[in-house]
Amino acid sequence: MSMPLFLWYTELDNLRAMPPMTTANAPGKIIVFGEHAVVYGRPAIAVPVTQVQAQVTIEQGEEGQGIVIVARDLGRILMVGEGETNDVVSPLQAVVASTLEYLGLGLEHDLTITIESTIPIARGLGSGAAVSTAMTRALAGYFARELTGQEVSGLVYEAETLYHGTPSGIDNTVIAYERPVYFIRDQKLETFCVRKPLLFLIADTGLESPTKTVVGAVRQAWERSKDRYEALFDSVGDVAVRARRALEKGEVEQVGRLMDENHRLLQTMGVSSFELDALVEAARHTGALGAKLSGAGRGGNMIALVTPQTCERVKDALEKEGAQSVIQTGVEASTDLTPSLVPERER
Ligand code: MEV
Repeated sequence: MSMPLFLWYTELDNLRAMPPMTTANAPGKIIVFGEHAVVYGRPAIAVPVTQVQAQVTIEQGEEGQGIVIVARDLGRILMVGEGETNDVVSPLQAVVASTLEYLGLGLEHDLTITIESTIPIARGLGSGAAVSTAMTRALAGYFARELTGQEVSGLVYEAETLYHGTPSGIDNTVIAYERPVYFIRDQKLETFCVRKPLLFLIADTGLESPTKTVVGAVRQAWERSKDRYEALFDSVGDVAVRARRALEKGEVEQVGRLMDENHRLLQTMGVSSFELDALVEAARHTGALGAKLSGAGRGGNMIALVTPQTCERVKDALEKEGAQSVIQTGVEASTDLTPSLVPERER
């Protein structure tokens, strides 16, 4: 027996049965260098943002209810399997189905899955990948199974293809591994060393950054002018390589200069906007070491590299310039300074 697709939350709350209950989380992310070019095989650098989180809770449901997903932030309730009535399977439904299949389990379970997230949607902070990651981890936890970072990342990538079409894989990777990554599409994941800690401000334009649309627009432009865009992607890739070197040497000011260079290339690529540029300028004028858009662009967030001394001043300037929210996040210095591939057992 399946339940109607839409229920009042209060009714659904009544359906909640007793434990066992499992909760799992996943952070947001920012791309510090290399967005868009990473889709075309150039290197990119991303770090997790733990100040925002997606959370998935799984509880035993009532007998016969099937798998019910309650996405409170989206105001949606979805069914997986038998009761699924959606024409288009959402990434949420897809990640549940594929994770259960991967765990060797069928869809014949009575589960209530609740999603809550503080990661703003469609702002370049990886909300979709974070929800899918938390979902995969929660399902594995609920059924007392362990998945490696590589397994989680792979399952989330499949769901990401529904959100984004042809994602590079950087979002699911940085979020599933929860560590800074130097990422090249289809290559083994490398960690990299950060010799000195970094402090970032993340400012939201308040405008949507629809990854699929912007990535599609870049693809069209690349198809029209292949040589020009390949050269732009090469330059972005070169910036990412130099940035990794600067991070490894602790040359924080150089990291800032390279962020500025990356932003100029993204402007040339046509993915910045008036609002993003205004925030980037405001950050630079008030002492940020560098600033750029982060993620797909056109809207969403920009990031500014600041110091403890300039942080408040830059934050004020971003708010005055119209930022809807400003998040402060940091990257700690690495304890092990040897660059390496991620160990087999963690992959
Ligand atoms: C989105 O967070 C980053 C893009 O480079 C797309 C991708 O890598 O899949 C714009």
